[in-house]
Amino acid sequence: MTNNYNFSDRVEWLAPSPIRKMMAIAKCLQEEGKTVYELNIGQPDVPFIEDFKDAICRKASEGRASYSPYIGEKFLRETFARYLNNYFGSRKLTHLLVDTDNVLVTMGASHALSNTFLAICNPGDEVLTFDPFFSPYRGFLAVANGVMKACPTKAENGFALPSEEEIEKHITSKTKAIIINSPNNPSGKIYTQEEMERVARLCLKHDIYFISDEVYREMILGDQQPYSVLQLDMKDEKLNQRLMDRIILIDSCSKSFSLCGVRIGFVVARKPIIDKIALVNAHTVACVSDLLQYGLASAYDAVLSKPDYLNELRKTYRDRLDATMEAIKEYLPNVLAPRPAGAFYLMVKFPEFDDIDEFCHYMLEKFNMGGETVAVTPAKTFYLDPSAGKNEIRIALVVSPEKMRRCIQIISEALKSYKRYKTAGKINLRKML
Ligand SMILES: Cc1ncc(COP(=O)(O)O)c(C=O)c1O
Repeated sequence: MTNNYNFSDRVEWLAPSPIRKMMAIAKCLQEEGKTVYELNIGQPDVPFIEDFKDAICRKASEGRASYSPYIGEKFLRETFARYLNNYFGSRKLTHLLVDTDNVLVTMGASHALSNTFLAICNPGDEVLTFDPFFSPYRGFLAVANGVMKACPTKAENGFALPSEEEIEKHITSKTKAIIINSPNNPSGKIYTQEEMERVARLCLKHDIYFISDEVYREMILGDQQPYSVLQLDMKDEKLNQRLMDRIILIDSCSKSFSLCGVRIGFVVARKPIIDKIALVNAHTVACVSDLLQYGLASAYDAVLSKPDYLNELRKTYRDRLDATMEAIKEYLPNVLAPRPAGAFYLMVKFPEFDDIDEFCHYMLEKFNMGGETVAVTPAKTFYLDPSAGKNEIRIALVVSPEKMRRCIQIISEALKSYKRYKTAGKINLRKML
């Protein structure tokens, strides 16, 4: 009973992340000597760019770490604006030009999102997204006393967005924003230009924000390129101007730069929006580490002059995906696993299961193949609809192709073993933490 402590309603609504719960169990088992491939969390294992380390060491050698502006260091905001403009410019894509004033530095995309929600939502306001989605959005929004709503999409039709009319049914007088994540975690879907325009038309019609979470922009696994919110053109100057007042882009160094632990993210929007969200920064964390901002600016600068780092990164994840898809064909012929277009996750549906949760815990806690097992995330956590995703898992492509192959083999053997255990009625799992 936590009520005795007289907590706020806000924290009473917050639940621990199921992804983190799996991670805690995996860590305990690792301490006990079991090898656990942690495919349950999007923690890249790829080394970060050398320039980051060199810059951090240089800055640290000055023997000082200071407060920085709550909007972020100007040099990093400038560098990030240059990186974004170069991203589109080098691909010859028409886009909204981003200036230093349009950039806010935050503590990761997580903080960028929670501060955005705090800046735009009153208690009870709603934010609409699409099932399945990155489940921590719910917690970020709950902190702002907001309510998450989700419109369903399905693996069977490639997680395509529903029609404008269908989406509109989920928009109410309390809806403050639609949030889109492309490339998508967990589905790997990249929304097309037409789908992005569909969302933009609805945002304009209902005068709500279009939040575009593009943290996986660089993680492209095939030929389809992402279409950014910054590329939108409504072919009407007045509409374009109105849309610019409604666009909020979220980005981060965590995935593309393998810098999850650096905790730096960005909000990109028109200056009045940036200034307001920056105030939330000021009154929550005060500012982001100057040392890390310095290091990160060097990493973005380095990538601008050495695009090979990102090309290599994409190749690394494509190789892992190829190995995984092949292994699935060989070891798990009965599952449905649509090939993701971007990000670095795979949704795998097991039609023979009603609920795969117990199997995931069984595989982690009770099963091993030569002392090794795999942690995966039961995908129901990514759906707001409690009846959806129950027989799906999400796996992250965060180990080498050889190890990915081994993991699929382990899952296949664990399935056989689980069926035997079920038949023998021997399920008695450790109490979840
Ligand atoms: C879609 C999406 N958005 C935001 C985040 C948060 O990223 P960060 O590490 O920058 O807080 C993640 C992290 O996994 C993510 O997958």
